[in-house]
Amino acid sequence: MGFVVAVDGPAASGKGTIAARLGAAFGLPVLDTGLLYRAVGVLCERAGHDPGDGAAAATVAAALSAEQLGDPALRTRRAGELASRVAVHPAVRAALLDLQRAFARQESGAVLDGRDIGTVICPQAPAKLYVTATPEVRAERRWKQLAAQGEAADYAEVLADTRRRDARDGGRETAPMACAADAILLDTTEMTIEHAADAARRIVEAARARWEASKASP
Ligand code: C5P
Repeated sequence: MGFVVAVDGPAASGKGTIAARLGAAFGLPVLDTGLLYRAVGVLCERAGHDPGDGAAAATVAAALSAEQLGDPALRTRRAGELASRVAVHPAVRAALLDLQRAFARQESGAVLDGRDIGTVICPQAPAKLYVTATPEVRAERRWKQLAAQGEAADYAEVLADTRRRDARDGGRETAPMACAADAILLDTTEMTIEHAADAARRIVEAARARWEASKASP
């Protein structure tokens, strides 16, 4: 297996930007696994399914392909909410497992960001980060991001969304959002994204050196 980097954490913690920067720095392809759940949520809604219907959502998940992940509709607030509702179903998570593991198995190695990469999808990943920040700071970042993409929202509502999503993602029974025992915690509350990306790069550099040394030893 190539060098796999698992980047987990809650919404707007900075993990997406960090994962993209790590991919560029280490020459690794990056999969934003949140997009998979967002696509399932949005496609379910378009097909008229209730996001609470796990069997219908799992059918949509099983038919999902990487080409469907570029839709800008997946970046909206509504898509985030739908994603976290379909993500509670074990059958949906099972249907998306192979796609994620196949991405991680690429010869080149890979970076995957999500909620359960270090705990469930790639528990053997040699580099694991758990990126977090306070709900207030994450809501502020998300609110600015939404405004920049033309989706004006009320800060208090975005904060309420953030807390609801944290509770649902962390409280579900199957593959809850969690920091793996061997992940390094990166709290970005007081950091600029540059500072956070730099800290992440140093952590991953050290992990890569250990991984290379372990491959070289008999
Ligand atoms: O990271 P992002 O905000 O795009 O994720 C959207 C939702 O998808 C999350 O709130 C979570 O419910 C779900 N998700 C998940 N497991 C992942 C990635 C995302 O359950 N690995």
